[in-house]
Amino acid sequence: MKLDTKLIHAGAEPDPSTGAIMTPIFQTSTYVQEAPGKNKGFEYARSQNPTRKALEEAFAIIENGKFGLAFSSGVAATDAVIKLLGPGDEVICANDMYGGSYRLFTKVFEKFGIKFLYVDTTDTRNIANAVTANTKLVWLETPTNPLMNITDIAAVAAITQPQNILLAVDNTFASPYLQNPLDLGADIVMHSATKYLGGHSDVIHGCLMMNDADLREKLYFIQKSCGAVPGPMDCFLILRGIKTLGVRMKAHCENGAKIAHWLRSHPKVAKVYWPGFEDHPGYAVAKKQMRDFGGMISFVLKDEGESETKRVLSSTKLFALAESLGGVESLINHPATMTHASIPREERIKNGLSDSLIRLSVGIEDADDLIEDLKNAIG
Ligand SMILES: Cc1ncc(COP(=O)(O)O)c(C=O)c1O
Repeated sequence: MKLDTKLIHAGAEPDPSTGAIMTPIFQTSTYVQEAPGKNKGFEYARSQNPTRKALEEAFAIIENGKFGLAFSSGVAATDAVIKLLGPGDEVICANDMYGGSYRLFTKVFEKFGIKFLYVDTTDTRNIANAVTANTKLVWLETPTNPLMNITDIAAVAAITQPQNILLAVDNTFASPYLQNPLDLGADIVMHSATKYLGGHSDVIHGCLMMNDADLREKLYFIQKSCGAVPGPMDCFLILRGIKTLGVRMKAHCENGAKIAHWLRSHPKVAKVYWPGFEDHPGYAVAKKQMRDFGGMISFVLKDEGESETKRVLSSTKLFALAESLGGVESLINHPATMTHASIPREERIKNGLSDSLIRLSVGIEDADDLIEDLKNAIG
């Protein structure tokens, strides 16, 4: 099946009891058993739920994986992966990634004796050089949030696979429509399904996809033991969102390209971060491993003063000033004070995330209206 067909049919079987074409929302906490230990495969809803099961099947299919697991948020999915590790283990990760992942690693897991090394993963030699006998996991984000840096997933897999190091990729920014890390040698794909998979800014959700049955068992054990599971209504919303991922992503990419080029030609804009520009340092890799360049764009104004940056952030009418991304509506965000505020300023600046960076999640409205909105705001 081609991707656009898979997105519509993934995990969708008519309900056997009624023929309902859409997966019902099984709003139940437990299941009646015929006799002790004799059940229909469902015992207690933290461990199994039919709506979640359908979604987990869909997750596997859309990332070309064998298994999918659903979590109550993207951060909960990330948390489950780190719980595979123990004291003394080391993780190599990007020095530019979602602030909430950084906060989870530094503020929650470091105190349990797991060590995180932050390197510029766009140069894969930095990863090879950081590997020690204790390295158990490489955690990648590509494109990164918010600087749109690109890392060559296959090149990193060539380093991790021979050394039995797990490679996990946060694929939130690309979505399965643009990039499939398992095909490139990754062991685990993670999504904040809150974003493009849900697509309508109405649910918090996360997921993991993988091919290895042992790894799936370990992660399923963590999922049911730690309990960060999504409710059935949320699973239904993600199942519904996935059906339109293809049409939405096409529109996000088309609008993203128009807006990135328009911003770049604006006299008041100093720099635009978008991997579709031929002179973007990651362009060649992005072209190789992604199907298109997406609708996430960051930029800085020539006037990098705080008041001008804040004025633009507060002046758009269609682009709503809000955290999050990947919904049908356009959002504008100030990473320094919003999504990435948990990263110490010094660390942020060192890695190129300035106070004046503005991030756009380009929605699927008419591109001319979006450009008009930015034109009025930037002036
Ligand atoms: C790239 C990326 N990864 C992970 C997350 C965390 O996901 P959630 O907010 O669903 O917990 C986010 C949230 O913004 C994100 O942008």
